[in-house]
Amino acid sequence: MKTAIFAHRGSKGNRPENTIAAFKEAMRINSDGIELDVHLTKDQELVIIHDEKIDRTTNGKGYVKDYTLQELKQFDAGAWFSDEYKGERIPTLKEVLTLLKDYEGTLNIELKTDRIDYPFIEQKVIDAVHEWRPNHPTLYSSFNHESLARLKAIEPEADFGILLFEKLYDPWLYARHIGASSLHLYKPAALSPSTSVIQDEGLAVRAWTINDADDMRRLFALDVDGIMTDYPERAMKIREEFSD
Ligand code: G3P
Ligand code: MG
Repeated sequence: MKTAIFAHRGSKGNRPENTIAAFKEAMRINSDGIELDVHLTKDQELVIIHDEKIDRTTNGKGYVKDYTLQELKQFDAGAWFSDEYKGERIPTLKEVLTLLKDYEGTLNIELKTDRIDYPFIEQKVIDAVHEWRPNHPTLYSSFNHESLARLKAIEPEADFGILLFEKLYDPWLYARHIGASSLHLYKPAALSPSTSVIQDEGLAVRAWTINDADDMRRLFALDVDGIMTDYPERAMKIREEFSD
C-alpha cells in the first residue's frame, strides 16, 4: 500500500500556512491530499485559518468570530512568513474549493470546532463542498467528535476521521460508534503497534504532523494510510525508497 501524503495547512513548511500560496504549492507538487482548517466569521462566512485568533498568522489581532469577512480581508496573512508573500489574505472556503476544483487528490477539511463550537458550521461546510467542489474526494476531521457526529447526521455518507491526541484503548470501537472511517492519530499513537490492529479492524490510520525524515520512514514501513506533513515534497521523495 502507498501511504498518502497530505500537505498540512497547504504546504506549511515553505509557504504561509492556509493561504492560497500554500494550496497552490501543494497542487504544484501534486500531493495526494491537502489538509486545511476552517472557522466561521462574525457574518457566518467560512474561512481558512488554523487558530481561533488571527494574531499569529496575520498583522491583526483578535478572534476570527469577532470580525466580518470584509474586515478580515483587510489583514495580511503572508508577510509574517516572508516579504515574498506579502498581500496574501485569509482565504474563504469557497475560494479554496474553487481553486482546488480540478485537483483530484483528497481535500481534508478540519472543522476547528474544538475550542469554539461554531453553530451550524457542519451544514455550511457540506453545502460549500457540494456547491464548489463536488466531484473529487473530501475527507472531514475534527478534534470535536460531537461536531463529527453532527456532520454524519447531515451527510451519512461523509468520509471522516477522528482526530486524537490520546492513545485510546481499542479505538476502533469508538470510531465505529461515531461512524468514522479513519483515525487521525498524533505521532506517538500512530507509531505504536496498535496501528496495524486498527487497520485490521477496517479503519484507515493517518498520522500527524510528520516532519522528521526518520518518522516518515517508520510510518511508511508501518504502511499507515496517510501522513499529514508540512513538507509534502520531502515526504514524496522519501516514499520513493519504499516499494508498493
Ligand atoms: O489534521 C492534522 C492536524 O491538522 C491536526 O492538528 O492543530 O495542525 O490542525 P492542527
Ligand atoms: Mg488541522
